Amino acid sequence: MESLKDQLIREKLPKHVAVIMDGNGRWAQKKGNSRIFGHQHGVTAVREVTEAAAELGIGYLTLYAFSTENWSRPKREVDALMSLLVSTISSETKTLIKNNVRLNTIGCRECLPASVLKKLEDAEAKTSENTGLTLVLALSYSSRWEIVDASKRIARDVQNGKLNVDDIDDNIFSEYLATKGMPDPELMIRTSGELRISNFLLWQLAYTELYFTEVLWPDYRKEDFYEALLDYQRRERRFGKTSQQI
Ligand code: FPP
Repeated sequence: MESLKDQLIREKLPKHVAVIMDGNGRWAQKKGNSRIFGHQHGVTAVREVTEAAAELGIGYLTLYAFSTENWSRPKREVDALMSLLVSTISSETKTLIKNNVRLNTIGCRECLPASVLKKLEDAEAKTSENTGLTLVLALSYSSRWEIVDASKRIARDVQNGKLNVDDIDDNIFSEYLATKGMPDPELMIRTSGELRISNFLLWQLAYTELYFTEVLWPDYRKEDFYEALLDYQRRERRFGKTSQQI
């Protein structure tokens, strides 16, 4: 039997896949452990999916690692997530370089603790020349934050005479978003059985195919990722047109 990976049509792979990594807490609780234990094991899944995407030649992988709303979790969990980010980025930078992966982030940079920001900036600088997969971590990110932030900067540029109100269109607006220069995701995966977007890439997901799986994030492996890509390849993307027009 042909493996899932071999069944993929290489020319029909998405250029950009976005993932809501959900279910770390439930995974840990099922095992009688703390939520933090779940996040620690979530790192294995991050590694797997990043490696799979890089091997397949996918251009962009955006992972929702920490939302604006996540700041209101118990301090202990927030602190643990921040130190997990710092330690993972430190230990993985070498592997990112070896695999030609470029690290980027989207979200409120100034909302992050200085230690996290420093590590991120360091890893971004060290991987900036890489030409393979771009791994985008959404950190202190929420889509409404991003859209409000873009609107403020657009208003300022109009005020300063740098931008004409009548020139504002989809393309100009996209230029003010954190994802500037990136293609919109063709596929968005959410794990853990929740059927929500949760304030993630609301503008960019306009025509994205959505894929939901019951698998909890710490259990997510390359085969699960291939399964989502195969499902995506079986769909017909019409962008508002009829089947006959495609
Ligand atoms: C959602 O599960 C997961 C998060 C809020 C954090 C995601 C972080 C990681 C996978 C680890 C670090 C990431 C990187 C990029 C190094 P949840 O806690 O909401 O789970 P629950 O819904 O079961 O409670």
